Amino acid sequence: MTQATNQSWGGRFSEPTDAFVAAFTASIPFDKRLYHHDIRGSIAHATMLARVGVLTDDERDRIIEGLGEIEAEIERGEIEWSIALEDIHMNIEARLTDKIGITGKKLHTGRSRNDQIATDIRLYLRDEIDAVAAELARLRSGLIELAEREADTIMPGFTHLQTAQPVTFGHHLLAWQEMLTRDHERLLDCRKRVNVLPLGAAALAGTTYPIDRHVTAELLGFERPAENSLDAVSDRDFAIEFTAFASILLMHLSRMSEEMVLWASAQFDFVDLPDRFCTGSSIMPQKKNPDVPELVRGKTGRVYGHLMSLLTLMKSQPLAYNKDNQEDKEPLFDTLDTVKGCLRAFADMAPALEAKAENMFEAARKGFSTATDLADYLVRAGVAFRDAHEIVGKAVAYGIEQKKDLSEMSLDELQRFSDAIHDDVFEVLTLEGSVAARNHIGGTAPDQVRAAAQRAREALATLAGGPQEGTDHGA
Ligand code: ARG
Repeated sequence: MTQATNQSWGGRFSEPTDAFVAAFTASIPFDKRLYHHDIRGSIAHATMLARVGVLTDDERDRIIEGLGEIEAEIERGEIEWSIALEDIHMNIEARLTDKIGITGKKLHTGRSRNDQIATDIRLYLRDEIDAVAAELARLRSGLIELAEREADTIMPGFTHLQTAQPVTFGHHLLAWQEMLTRDHERLLDCRKRVNVLPLGAAALAGTTYPIDRHVTAELLGFERPAENSLDAVSDRDFAIEFTAFASILLMHLSRMSEEMVLWASAQFDFVDLPDRFCTGSSIMPQKKNPDVPELVRGKTGRVYGHLMSLLTLMKSQPLAYNKDNQEDKEPLFDTLDTVKGCLRAFADMAPALEAKAENMFEAARKGFSTATDLADYLVRAGVAFRDAHEIVGKAVAYGIEQKKDLSEMSLDELQRFSDAIHDDVFEVLTLEGSVAARNHIGGTAPDQVRAAAQRAREALATLAGGPQEGTDHGA
């Protein structure tokens, strides 16, 4: 007589699982975080089974009550997870059978762990997407407010990280906000494809019981049952899609981080990051390091890594379920934790950025940032643009030699380069004049920034307040 084999599937085995193999194949160390959603899925499944007459109402009630008690036990930390029971599904089912006896063993009628896990991940991810969307909305809202406050603040705009033309700080912040708007839309779009019910697909081909998948879908707030059982248990493209969203979001946060790090340096000195988001150096007493943006920039790499893991995990799998899919969880969970942490840090920090307006203004004044405005002025006076470009180039060369910005030159000096220049030129050479002149939708003029902030606020309210199927009401 051999030792006992795994109680759930050991019937056809003649020796117990090797202890190392049991630990190697178990997912309970990481899938235990799905317990709430596993229980929700089971309650819906049992409710549906009773509705179609596969379970009696009494059996359903005992199952639901037992599952409720188990959830409370888990939350009190009373459950000892068992590696021998492999995963969250069998750990919960075994506990249920301990508690309510043979009825516990009926819960798995008409389903498989294959459709069960696919359902759990989708339920879990849907709730997490809602949490991520809320943080994203908080960050966007903070940026819109800050942009409005900084609508008149002038800074240098860059191309190639060289001073290009003056812009308003509010305009720069709204550029960040636009990136995040697209991320937010991508997230909510991904949610639609997450919100589909696999349960009922059973192992791969469906089940012989008279199940009603519309009932289960409705109980769990899913938009509809998945169309094809083979596809429903096997594909993890929805997790890949979420991780792709996360990678693009982190790419954006990393770009913002890079700018914050540069701006907080003594060389730029454009912003002050509040002390609570920085740390010091153990050796250099003068240091105040922008750790939060640096870490967000750094964490981008691990999320890209998870995207590659999931794509690679999926790419060669034949239909339908394969154990490979168990490897979807850790990359997805770490992506979620990372995204939520980064967004929380950013939503707290970004609106608290303090602009050093004088330094920004001085930097914009120093870099000949109104050279294009002078060229445009000459064009308005009838000079061809290419000739105007040449004339201004010579004036800039003179300015570099004399250490004078264009606006600091006298009318006499400027007229050496073109007799089309008159004393109204100084209106376009000031930074205020330069930004105010870019007064069209999408331009940097302060009035445009205020109008854009208002539109952004309305768009955010529409997107964040839109209908969302299947929000977790604690069911
Ligand atoms: N722990 C498994 C996973 O994460 C659950 C499904 C197991 N199914 C099976 N036939 N072994 O994918």
